Amino acid sequence: MSGYKHFAVAGAGTIGKYIIDELLKARVGGTVDRVVVLTRSAEGNDALAAKGAEPIIVDYHTPSSLESALQGIDVLISTLAIPALALQTPLGSAAKAAGVQLFVLSEFGGSSEGHDDGVFPLKNAQREHLTSIGLPWIVFCTGFFSDWFWFQPFLGYDLANGRVEVGGTGDSLVSWTSRVDIARYVVYATTALPPAKLHNRMIKMEGERYTP
Ligand SMILES: NC(=O)c1ccc[n+]([C@@H]2O[C@H](COP(=O)([O-])OP(=O)(O)OC[C@H]3O[C@@H](n4cnc5c(N)ncnc54)[C@H](OP(=O)(O)O)[C@@H]3O)[C@@H](O)[C@H]2O)c1
Repeated sequence: MSGYKHFAVAGAGTIGKYIIDELLKARVGGTVDRVVVLTRSAEGNDALAAKGAEPIIVDYHTPSSLESALQGIDVLISTLAIPALALQTPLGSAAKAAGVQLFVLSEFGGSSEGHDDGVFPLKNAQREHLTSIGLPWIVFCTGFFSDWFWFQPFLGYDLANGRVEVGGTGDSLVSWTSRVDIARYVVYATTALPPAKLHNRMIKMEGERYTP
């Protein structure tokens, strides 16, 4: 067992809401004691509170706001959106000051290690920041979200309208994992595995591997 029972999730969006739901199930089962949700607004907070979560409105640009919200938290799970990834720097510093023991970084995609294109430099920089301040981190590499990707016309995948744009020959194998499976594994790992198996690790998971 990790011994971690007090969790905070930053952001309740595409992947965050699944992780929150899974943490709340673990709370009912007694594995988890607290599920705090950091958010910038009151929207949707009543629904979260009704399910047993503790939404706290924070200002990511005010360290004291973050530190206060993170008091007593063992594990902080960041699911912040891509445009907000840089906010993990002040979030990490506040988490360290508040005594958080493990920071799950907002990655949830292909492995960023050794990649310097697109969003990866920003994701790599967040890992380096946490290492430099001595706050243990973990990253879950999941591949694409298999229950989400196919319905994103902006990515060229528009199954609802029978249209998919495939790059190249479409023969390359790709990792896919559903959001429910990602959430289940993130909660399992952070509650059941010993800290030595969690700290400063990149954990790779794959629900399926197939070509587009
Ligand atoms: N593998 C895949 O197929 C796949 C697909 C999508 C995403 N991802 C990855 O998953 C991670 C999370 O992405 P997501 O799509 O789940 O995020 P998202 O739903 O777009 O946003 C998550 C939360 O971030 C907060 N947020 C958004 N913009 C913000 C801003 N400017 N400042 C502060 N907070 C902001 C919002 O929370 P509040 O409004 O409550 O503050 C929002 O609910 C990312 O690292 C992304 O790369 C992977």
